Amino acid sequence: MSSSLSNNRTAVNIAPDYAALCAPIAARIADLARAKPDCVLGLATGSSPLGVYNLLARHHAESSLDFSRVTCFNLDEYYPMAWDSPHSYHEFMRENLFSRINCGHWHVPDGASRSAEVIAESCRAYEDSIRAAGGIDLQLLGIGRSGHIGFNEPGSAVDSRTRLVALHPITREDAAPSFSGLSNVPTEAITMGIGTILEAREIILMAHGPSKAQIIAAALEGPVTDQMPASLLRGHKAVTWYLDAGAAEGLTK
Ligand code: F6R
Repeated sequence: MSSSLSNNRTAVNIAPDYAALCAPIAARIADLARAKPDCVLGLATGSSPLGVYNLLARHHAESSLDFSRVTCFNLDEYYPMAWDSPHSYHEFMRENLFSRINCGHWHVPDGASRSAEVIAESCRAYEDSIRAAGGIDLQLLGIGRSGHIGFNEPGSAVDSRTRLVALHPITREDAAPSFSGLSNVPTEAITMGIGTILEAREIILMAHGPSKAQIIAAALEGPVTDQMPASLLRGHKAVTWYLDAGAAEGLTK
């Protein structure tokens, strides 16, 4: 059982646990891929979507869910980062999703070390590729403890586009275990912008566990401000927040 609250723009679904959180998200993506076989998905890395990716892989294996005409764009990549590094988000996506389904085209921002001009050009090209693919039909997001979506940290403009950004200290701290220590965590990343994300036709933000409760309450019930990037989603016309009981425990309304 999950409960739902919604207003005109923002729907909030609260599930009792992580499995119940992931199932309807995977079902929504599967429905979209069946209804629109050439749909465009925006995807996230991190721990939040792993259960969704497991379910999509299972739908592909057991129900022949076809991704051959689907195009995927990931939100972000660390900088500098070789695409084939075990720490790269490219490798994360290959391992956790794309090696397990038959996705036609998938893209992750290129974190290769280059001059500022070449990075800016490659960020523009990423935006152009999204546009050329027809725009993102459904964007899946997690949320960082800094309030970031993608790697749009506090202060990111509502109309920001794909670009090189500095990571917030909390974001680097949270990444430290997977880099065997804070000093190994990159200080920068390339991320789709808030403006890029808000152009998606539908957005799903997912969060689980009590470590996200405070940031979820601030993003959903605090002021809409670029100091809390996830709060900017409240201006989108089709966004659904999927939370488990732990992530929802700070909500008062
Ligand atoms: C990852 C991304 C980030 C994560 C966020 C939550 O591609 O864009 O915004 O979604 O940091 O990470 P987890 O899910 O590991 O808590």
